[in-house]
Amino acid sequence: MSDTRALSHLAFQAVRAAEDAAIAAYDWIGLGEKESADQAAVDALRTGLNAMEMRGRIVIGEGERDEAPMLFIGEEVGTGSGPEIDIALDPLEGTTLTAKGMENALAVLSLSPRGELLHAPDTYMDKIAVGPGYPAGVIDLDASPEDNVKSLAKAKNCPTSQITVCILERERHQFIVDGVKAAGARVRMIPEGDVAGLMGAAGLGAGADMYIGRGGAPEGVLAASALRCIGGQMQTRLHFRTDDERDRARRIGVTDLDRKYDLKEMASGHCIFIAAGVTDGDLVDGVKVSNGQVHTHTMLLDSADQSVRRIRSTRPHG
Ligand code: FBP
Repeated sequence: MSDTRALSHLAFQAVRAAEDAAIAAYDWIGLGEKESADQAAVDALRTGLNAMEMRGRIVIGEGERDEAPMLFIGEEVGTGSGPEIDIALDPLEGTTLTAKGMENALAVLSLSPRGELLHAPDTYMDKIAVGPGYPAGVIDLDASPEDNVKSLAKAKNCPTSQITVCILERERHQFIVDGVKAAGARVRMIPEGDVAGLMGAAGLGAGADMYIGRGGAPEGVLAASALRCIGGQMQTRLHFRTDDERDRARRIGVTDLDRKYDLKEMASGHCIFIAAGVTDGDLVDGVKVSNGQVHTHTMLLDSADQSVRRIRSTRPHG
């Protein structure tokens, strides 16, 4: 079986693993305990991944071996036979959203043949993205927010007042908010969860035309994998706060710490992207339990045919 077919074949099992992670996190929604919610999702996802017939390797995970007992970067998962797969994951994207019972918490993972996903450390990353259909170079991470808005408005042939930029609500992003306002465009502020935010700016989920801001690097690679499936443009650069973070990046093979990455450098080949809803959100609904049944809603993207599937499942609870 070709790598592409083998990967598409694994997709359904990976959907099941993501559903399991979402169901495990469901038990912790609104209880104010984000670590417990995360751990439950990690345990469930790991069990699901280990049942999959593959030689899987975590390239984006819960951190390094010494700080993350499970699903750490470099950990091998799967049955040990089958295709060699690299996996990026965030078993619970939106730990705070889950703990506070807020929208858009997801269990997220992405699968690619070995060597086709960027190995990024668990640091910050600057990100800018738009959806498909624009000329190459319409966004530039090194240009000001104002210039990016104007460039996109020109490409869309619309006034800047019809451009909405999705931004994670953080003090560090005030200059982006100011730039968007100066350009005469609109903002869509989100409290957490930039994977959903980035996908919304690429045309999936809630509406925005562009995403700009600094968030987690793992979330950046996951979102890149999603955009690789649906099309769009994205540029990123790792952001380090300490020498220890720089050392972590070097240890996993990053040689140019200031490099600007584009979409193809982050997700270079075939990829499968999966997001299962924990709480209700812009992309999918959250887990629901009724009459002894648990209901899940999961998005499955496949770059091989640029397909977008939303899958609902029902099974006995507990
Ligand atoms: P968690 O799932 O770890 O809680 O991350 C949620 C998140 O909002 C990400 O989507 C985003 O990339 C990151 O946190 C932003 O980090 P910070 O809260 O430090 O600004």
